[in-house]
Amino acid sequence: DEDCTGDRVSGQKGAVTMDSQKNKATDLIRLAYEAQKRSYSPYSGFQTGAALETAGGKVYQGCNIENAGYTPSNCAERTAFFKAVSEGERSFTRIAVVGNYPGKPGDYCAPCGVCRQVMREFCDPETFEIIIARGPEDYKSFLLKELLPESFGPDDLV
Ligand code: THU
Repeated sequence: DEDCTGDRVSGQKGAVTMDSQKNKATDLIRLAYEAQKRSYSPYSGFQTGAALETAGGKVYQGCNIENAGYTPSNCAERTAFFKAVSEGERSFTRIAVVGNYPGKPGDYCAPCGVCRQVMREFCDPETFEIIIARGPEDYKSFLLKELLPESFGPDDLV
């Protein structure tokens, strides 16, 4: 794909790896925009994409997937997490998120509360980075602890 700088490595179970070992934030954003093209969003028309980086440097992409029943809809971020976790991944470093209506300039698309809580299940709030972009090189980044302060997580249960 011309829009994607990463060379796909076969046999990676749905993940993408970049040819250089270290992904740049802009690489993740590009992969989020690529995933956004696969958005299934006939109800809201709002198209989102995410690129989730594992500790090993693999990237799992996700898009939003809506449903006629509305509540079964899944955000791009959770699609990426569930793809990755279902392939055995448990250690994550960063996620890039993009969202806009087609043909309209996007704004930064911050993850919804449900997605933040899913991140909290698998990521260290002190180190996991959330990159929200409104253009290929126009982004802000936050730690999970900033977007989900005083959170409840697996360590709160016996
Ligand atoms: N959505 C995402 O996929 N990620 C976000 O961060 C915000 C919202 C989706 C859900 C729904 O399909 C559409 O965008 C409008 O809310």
